[in-house]
Amino acid sequence: MTATTAKYLVTGASGQLGALAIDALLKKVPASQVVALVRRAEAAAPLEAKGVEVRIGDYTDVAALEKAFAGIDRLLLISSSEVGQRAAQHKNAVDAAKKAGVGFIAYTSILHADTSPLSLAVEHRETEAQLAASAIPYALLRNGWYTENKTGSIAPAVEHGAYPGAAGDGRISSAPRADYAEAAVAVLTADTLENGAVYELAGDTSFSMQDFADAIAQAAGKPVAYADMSEADYAAMLEGVGLPAPIAAMLADSDAGTAKGALEDNSKTLSDLIGRPTTPWSETVAEAVKQQKAA
Ligand SMILES: NC(=O)c1ccc[n+]([C@@H]2O[C@H](COP(=O)([O-])OP(=O)(O)OC[C@H]3O[C@@H](n4cnc5c(N)ncnc54)[C@H](OP(=O)(O)O)[C@@H]3O)[C@@H](O)[C@H]2O)c1
Repeated sequence: MTATTAKYLVTGASGQLGALAIDALLKKVPASQVVALVRRAEAAAPLEAKGVEVRIGDYTDVAALEKAFAGIDRLLLISSSEVGQRAAQHKNAVDAAKKAGVGFIAYTSILHADTSPLSLAVEHRETEAQLAASAIPYALLRNGWYTENKTGSIAPAVEHGAYPGAAGDGRISSAPRADYAEAAVAVLTADTLENGAVYELAGDTSFSMQDFADAIAQAAGKPVAYADMSEADYAAMLEGVGLPAPIAAMLADSDAGTAKGALEDNSKTLSDLIGRPTTPWSETVAEAVKQQKAA
């Protein structure tokens, strides 16, 4: 099955990365070759409006997934957002893909999954091993941080004049979701699929959280300082503003890993795949501040 005749399916299509991947895919192949997987029937309408077929399946339901994957040649498996249940859910997806005879899986993992100190990497390593054992040809899209992970907290940072964290002077090579979506589609639609390929995907430029706070301050025209603290203090602070303890711990752990360099990558694999420089983080910050001012 060639790239031009293959039937493609994107999981997590109701999510932010999934929707962008569908859009990127539609720039490469006709809508008749694109299937979107969602778990909630009410999520179908915006995708159907794009002309793609929508199938329903939850990562917890192997039978539904097997049915949804029928006739699919190339699958973009977007990792589940249900941290702690992901390894089991992804195994269901891989098992279902095997039963359905899917020809290729591209999986969204995490940057440097094999060596990453982040607790989030544990389940990705499990899924990478499941794929390697599946005998289905596959590629690993080891995504670095979305710039949007950090721009989401711009409003309180501007309000309080401080951006808290535990990342020290660790650098983050981020790119917006749209760049990762485009890269995923480049791998999925390649003429020649390379089984077992590993792509360490990250932005061309990186920032420390001090750089990030400075960029917010500049765009907002107000002072914003980076307030660095210990991992434990940051987790406690996040709990204090209402985050559930496991989420607070996961975010603080990710920052501690950032301090160790876990989210820095200078390979430029992402820009190579998309054939253009990645969108600079400072541009995404400036745009987010602009939108926040207008809100
Ligand atoms: N690289 C990074 O910086 C970064 C940051 C955050 C997350 N991630 C990972 O990247 C993935 C995509 O990111 P995103 O921003 O697009 O996340 P998102 O907007 O939260 O989308 C997650 C998608 O997964 C679907 N999903 C969750 N549980 C499912 C289940 N049990 N069965 C079937 N589908 C399920 C969601 O469906 P519903 O719409 O029904 O909820 C949604 O479509 C995340 O899920 C997470 O694994 C990466």
